[in-house]
Amino acid sequence: MGSAKTPSTERAKTYDRRDFLIHTSVSALCTGCSAFTSRAQTDAQLTPTKGTITLDTAAASSLKGVGSIYRIQVPEGPRIIVIRQAAGLLAFSAACTHWGSDVAPNGNGEFECPTHGSRFSSTTGAVLEGPADSPLARYAVTESTNGTVIRISLNKTAG
Ligand code: FES
Repeated sequence: MGSAKTPSTERAKTYDRRDFLIHTSVSALCTGCSAFTSRAQTDAQLTPTKGTITLDTAAASSLKGVGSIYRIQVPEGPRIIVIRQAAGLLAFSAACTHWGSDVAPNGNGEFECPTHGSRFSSTTGAVLEGPADSPLARYAVTESTNGTVIRISLNKTAG
C-alpha cells in the first residue's frame, strides 16, 4: 500500500477541488449581485405621458451642478441616469449592456459598471472598456430656459 493513491482517492480529490471551485464561483457571483443591488438606486419612479417623462422642480434643481446625476425608474420600463455635463443635460439607460447592472459615474468622466468593470463615456454612452460591447442607449432631453422643467423622451433617442 504505502503512498500509492487508489483511483477512488483520486476521484475524491478531484471532486473536492471541483466542488471548491463551484462554491467559490457561486460566492463570487453573489458578491457581484450584492454589489449590483446595493448600487441600484432610484431617485424617483416616474410614469411617462405620451412617451415623455417630466421631472419636477425639485428634481430639476438637483441637476444644477456639472456632474450631478438623477436616477429614474420608469415602471415596467427603463432605468435612466440623467447627468449634467458642461454642454447640458444628457440621459442614458442606466443598465449596463453586458448583464444589466446599474452603471454609476466613476469620477473620471465615465460611467462604470460595478459588476464586471465595463466603462462607458458619460457624454456619448460609447463603450470604453468591455466586457460590454454595445453603447448605453441615450434619450433626448429638453430643458426650459430657466432650468425648472426637464423632459426626457423615451421614444426619441439622441444621436
Ligand atoms: S454587468 Fe456590467 S460589465 Fe457585466
